[in-house]
Amino acid sequence: MRNLTSTELRQLYLDFFKSKGHAVIQSASLIPENDPTVLFTTAGMHPLVPYLMGQKHPEGTRLTDVQKCVRTGDIDEVGDNSHCTFFEMLGNWSLGDYFKKESIAYSWEFLTSPEWLGIDKDKLFFTCFEGDADCPRDTVAHDRWVEMGVDPSHIVYLPKKHNWWGPAGLTGPCGPDTEIFYDNGKPACGPDCKAGCDCGKYLEIWNNVFMEYNKVADGVFEPLAQKNVDTGMGLDRTIATLQGVESVYDTDAFTGILGAISELSGKNYKDSPETVRAFRIIADHIRCATFMLGDQKGVVPSNVDQGYILRRLIRRAIRFAKQIGIPDGTLSKVADAVVAQYGEVYPELKQNHDKIVSELDKEQQRFDGALRKGTKEFERLAANLNGTEIAGVDAFHLYDTFGFPVEFTQELAAEKGLTVDLDAFNKAFAEHQEKSRAGAEQKFKSGLADHSAETTALHTATHLLHAGLRKVLNDENVAQKGSNITAERLRFDFSFPRKVTRDELDQVEAFVNEAIAADVNVLCEEMTVDEARASGAIGLFGDRYGAKVTVYTVPGYSKEICAGPHVAHTAELGRFKIQKEEASSAGVRRIKAVLIHD
Ligand code: ALA
Repeated sequence: MRNLTSTELRQLYLDFFKSKGHAVIQSASLIPENDPTVLFTTAGMHPLVPYLMGQKHPEGTRLTDVQKCVRTGDIDEVGDNSHCTFFEMLGNWSLGDYFKKESIAYSWEFLTSPEWLGIDKDKLFFTCFEGDADCPRDTVAHDRWVEMGVDPSHIVYLPKKHNWWGPAGLTGPCGPDTEIFYDNGKPACGPDCKAGCDCGKYLEIWNNVFMEYNKVADGVFEPLAQKNVDTGMGLDRTIATLQGVESVYDTDAFTGILGAISELSGKNYKDSPETVRAFRIIADHIRCATFMLGDQKGVVPSNVDQGYILRRLIRRAIRFAKQIGIPDGTLSKVADAVVAQYGEVYPELKQNHDKIVSELDKEQQRFDGALRKGTKEFERLAANLNGTEIAGVDAFHLYDTFGFPVEFTQELAAEKGLTVDLDAFNKAFAEHQEKSRAGAEQKFKSGLADHSAETTALHTATHLLHAGLRKVLNDENVAQKGSNITAERLRFDFSFPRKVTRDELDQVEAFVNEAIAADVNVLCEEMTVDEARASGAIGLFGDRYGAKVTVYTVPGYSKEICAGPHVAHTAELGRFKIQKEEASSAGVRRIKAVLIHD
């Protein structure tokens, strides 16, 4: 097997597919075009959806690229061996051109030929789709691997949960896939250990998706006009596998970035488990933040949508930077290392270098302000304490509102001879994590600016508005396209083909005000996606089979998948008033509304 750097693997992949008649295309922006349902480009196929659906691509029917991606569902898990928020996905596409046979032959040649990666074929294992009511068992893929010379004992069939790629939103192109794993030689975890097992023996390096269906609604699949291939190979992960290192952070891609952190902190990456974790978190978060700030469609820190995720990443990096002694306001030096590592491949990083540095510096100054306010809140809590233990909910409030890590709160508490109810904090934290994970594939927290009482009330009002619009416009197709809620007002975008009349708006208002007058309790339940769907909840279901979601119900009025928060009962809302209805974009209307407390 060849020992490659990440720069070499990136180039080799593109060269290979170029030699097979593929046009090399530039990475699209991290911010999806025309897709209000997801915040970031989460896979290489995401920007290519219109072409997978049949639109002609100007570069032809065979494409290859390396796409910048961000997945933010597991931010709190970054720091272990495998989680990253930013990653690069190598991909090759057939847009109605070749299909399973050629796709598998290309993958096999690239992986095993000494001219390319030269991986020993005995180390490779494969999974194929086992078949169900929606789509037959993929014996074509299976048999093709065997034709390539794979021992059938290296191939297993697995169900949809493993071997199906679904659309990023509710609908879109999808299909069965075949995944390729590298056996790192660790002992099997048990008699059932096989490709697809997540014990760490079989590392997934490539996924070939055979996109021949269009998901038009939950459980409804139609054949696409053309059969496509979409493949994805995570660059960092594959390099870690090929270099035989335990973690993506131990690959050459991170050498310069970790070096910058070491210089600033005066510590070494591997000094202790704490430094390993802090170095990884800072490296990942600043890499991701640099790509967001430097993107073609540049994001800046804010309290909503992409800007909020960016803010969270920067602030979390700052907290860990403080922990290892990095001087305040110096993290842009880490961003410099990111630009040095990636600037050749992503020229937008070089072009926007000044902006990246100045936005990072500004956010560090703002966060210092939040830390000061949070410290005041801590002093207030400590002064009013009954006993010597800070409650879990209070520690969580400091975390959630002021960005105080619990360790930080514990330190402040210890200085005053106090303790923190860590179990209760962990419980509140775990609940929050579960909710944000469920919500992460949905539009970010419904576009809430903050979690104040006013914003929360307007958030519940937004659910009632959504339900009212569906009822009055008698149109199941009224679908949320976006929402943005501040303490002052709500803004709600939804699909609808014409202007909504004043009479209809009056009826919607009356519906919401009736729900408020009825003063019903708002219920919050956790359930699986299937249960949510069966219960008639509206919202984006995502494609993660078996995933848990939170469902908020205003009994008799609304039921929606949502990450919260909401009021406890509807009388808290006051009087609902629609101020404006206007066009937002083609086929999308926008409503602005307020709650009046007379
Ligand atoms: N879209 C597939 C993935 O990202 C290839 O795994």
